[in-house]
Order: sequence, then C-alpha cells, then structure tokens
Amino acid sequence: MSKRILQVEDLMVSFDGFKALDIAYFELEEKELRVVIGPNGAGKTTFMDVLCGKTKPHTGTAMMDGKDLVRLNEQQIVELGVGRKFQTPSVFGSLSVFDNLLLALKTDRKVWRSLFYRLPAEGRARIEDVAETVGLKDCLGMDAAFLSHGQKQWLEIGMLILQDPKLLLIDEPAAGMSDEETAKTGRLLTDLAEKHSIIVIEHDMEFVKQLARTVTVLCEGKILTEGPIEKVQEDPQVIERYLGRSHGTRAEKAAKPVMAGGAHA
Ligand SMILES: Nc1ncnc2c1ncn2[C@@H]1O[C@H](COP(=O)(O)OP(=O)(O)OP(=O)(O)O)[C@@H](O)[C@H]1O
Ligand SMILES: [Mg+2]
Repeated sequence: MSKRILQVEDLMVSFDGFKALDIAYFELEEKELRVVIGPNGAGKTTFMDVLCGKTKPHTGTAMMDGKDLVRLNEQQIVELGVGRKFQTPSVFGSLSVFDNLLLALKTDRKVWRSLFYRLPAEGRARIEDVAETVGLKDCLGMDAAFLSHGQKQWLEIGMLILQDPKLLLIDEPAAGMSDEETAKTGRLLTDLAEKHSIIVIEHDMEFVKQLARTVTVLCEGKILTEGPIEKVQEDPQVIERYLGRSHGTRAEKAAKPVMAGGAHA
C-alpha cells in the first residue's frame, strides 16, 4: 500500500496583500512523481519556495514525516530529506563534474562525518553511481563549464540525489533543452521516481505527456484541478485558463527568458 509523504493544508502566501498561493489541500504519495502545471504567475515556484523553507506562508501546514515544513528553516528541511532544484542550473563551471558532485556529497554533513572515517573509495563509488544515473559518467573529468545546458541540469540533479532526498522539488527541468535532452530528462525523472518522491513544475506539455502522471493545475494561486494528464488536458476550465492560451508549446517555451546558455542557442 502506498504511503503519504506530504500533506499540505490551507497554505496561503500573500505578497503585500496579493494572494500568490492559496492551496486548500494537496497530498503526495511516497515515490509519486507529480507534475504541477499552470500559467505564468500561477504560484508554482512560490509553492516550491514554501516547501523548501525559502518563503514562509501566512497560514497553513505542510506535514512531512510528522514535521511541519512551515516551522522549519531551510537547513532543517534539507536534513529532513527535501532537495530543491531551481530553474537555472548553478554548477561550478571551473570545477570538474566529479568535483561538483564531490562538493555536493560533502555538504551532506552526515555523509561527510562518516566519510571521514571510511575509505575515500566509498565516496568515489557513490559519485560514479550517481554520474551514471544522470548520464554523465563519461564526463566526470570535464570542467562543468563545457557541459551543454541539458548536461548542467542533469549534473545539478545528480548533486541533489547524492544527498539522497526523500522528496525532490524540480522547477522546469526541460526549459531550454533540445527535444532529445527533454526526452532524456523525462526518462531520468521516471527512473528517479522509483526511489524518491518528486514534484516537478513544467510548462512543456509534450514533456508532461511523456511523464504521463497525475497533474496538478495551479491557477491564480489555487488548485484548479488535479488528475491524470489525459483528463486534465480535456478539462474545459484548464483549456480556457491555461492550455487554450497557447501555453506549453515548445515555441513558446523557447521564447522564455530563462534560456541563458540554452541548447537552442
Ligand atoms: N518575492 C515576491 N514578492 C512579490 N511578489 C512575488 C514574489 N514572488 C512571487 N511573486 C508573485 O507571486 C505570483 C506567483 O509567482 P510564481 O513565481 O510562484 O509563479 P509561477 O507559477 O512559478 O510562474 P512562472 O510559470 O512564470 O514561473 C506572481 O504574481 C509573482 O509576481
Ligand atoms: Mg516559476
């Protein structure tokens, strides 16, 4: 039987009186891969900001493992097992892929303490394992600056999963990726969902269809609807307020300003 990992109730964020987020109820099962879609400004990123402790809501709870994320700081939330990937990749360009991963491993204090007493070979094996998962095993010696935009995104996902989070929050992983990279990212997320619970925000409907999972539609801060992608994309409200407004096409995505360093360039 599947177990719930996250339960959100009455979560409200307001910026100077403007309700950016107003979620009555949201839950996520263990090892579920949930996709959150919705128009620009719907509150998707704000939702992730609350779950990782970056933004504090005015009201509400977000329970994980008997703890309320709303009451914890960012470091405590990381230690509880929540990993967040932001929209733009932030890897160290002048360091090798291996060293980027090593740094990520070292920021996990638990692992760092235990590595101190064990053979370094154990850390190396874990890094190689994760590099293989994210498709960068052949690039370990390369400076991260020379990676493609897609590879940088995968490296950052690798840096996250080295810390073995129970819940991964991933904001628009396919933005700026080529079709081939997008497909590869879809396979990566599907693989990762065998071990982790994942919430992924995405605009690219082709990518969302490829993931073929439960979709939550956010609109003006509220959950408009939730369900299997096939149902959601036929929902008249979703069509009127999101899909019908030409959101989610690759052409539109390519026009978005988050493309710095993108593979389309
Ligand atoms: N720190 C902030 N201060 C004031 N307003 C904010 C802040 N962060 C977000 N907002 C506003 O809250 C609303 C929700 O923003 P959010 O970034 O969560 O949307 P989004 O769904 O992620 O959009 P996009 O698809 O463009 O990434 C927007 O109207 C935005 O302008
Ligand atoms: Mg956003």
